[in-house]
Amino acid sequence: MHKKKIAVYPGTFDPVTNGHYDIIQRGLKIFDKLVVAVTTNGSKNPLFPVEERLYMLSETFKDMPNVKIDSFDCLLVDYVAAQGAETILRGLRAVSDFEYEFQMALMNRKLNKSIQTVFLMTGMRWIFISSSIIKEASQFGGDTRKLVPDAVYKKLKEKFNKNGSMET
Ligand code: COA
Repeated sequence: MHKKKIAVYPGTFDPVTNGHYDIIQRGLKIFDKLVVAVTTNGSKNPLFPVEERLYMLSETFKDMPNVKIDSFDCLLVDYVAAQGAETILRGLRAVSDFEYEFQMALMNRKLNKSIQTVFLMTGMRWIFISSSIIKEASQFGGDTRKLVPDAVYKKLKEKFNKNGSMET
């Protein structure tokens, strides 16, 4: 019987952008199922609490049964193994991503040699996007409608009022 090819796509997703969406679309052409896994204790200081990041992802992928949204707070390789997966999916935008990704992939391999990391290239039109740049632009009233999924656009609008200050 054909064994299901499952990959875990981990990240902070603070928030998910069209760049991440693009990687997930490409990943679905290779894997039977993708687990989009939000880290709950990364080193970053996120704008959105994990529940809101999960909500935005769930709304964005609600019509895609092969995409599972989840969170994790342990070592990534342990989470991947617990999901019955053998692959970590990561997106590459520019050469500047390479050094960090290279280090992470090799460290993960050291931690569990049966788990492979697969890199996919983001579509050219999303090459300049990051979650930070989206948040910064939104904070100062920039229009990010075409750069993020609808659910994220709405949340960003809620978070920052017209003057760019944060809603409390
Ligand atoms: N399009 C747009 N932006 C993209 C992108 C794409 N295709 N791919 C990455 N990015 C951006 C993200 O928006 C993010 O931007 P930001 O820095 O402005 O927030 C940045 O690139 C990288 O973030 P992300 O892809 O979310 O990954 P991360 O580096 O935040 O996540 C983990 C890192 C969660 C994978 C890693 O910390 C981890 O595995 N933690 C678990 C603990 C562990 O096992 N540690 C050992 C690992 S060796």
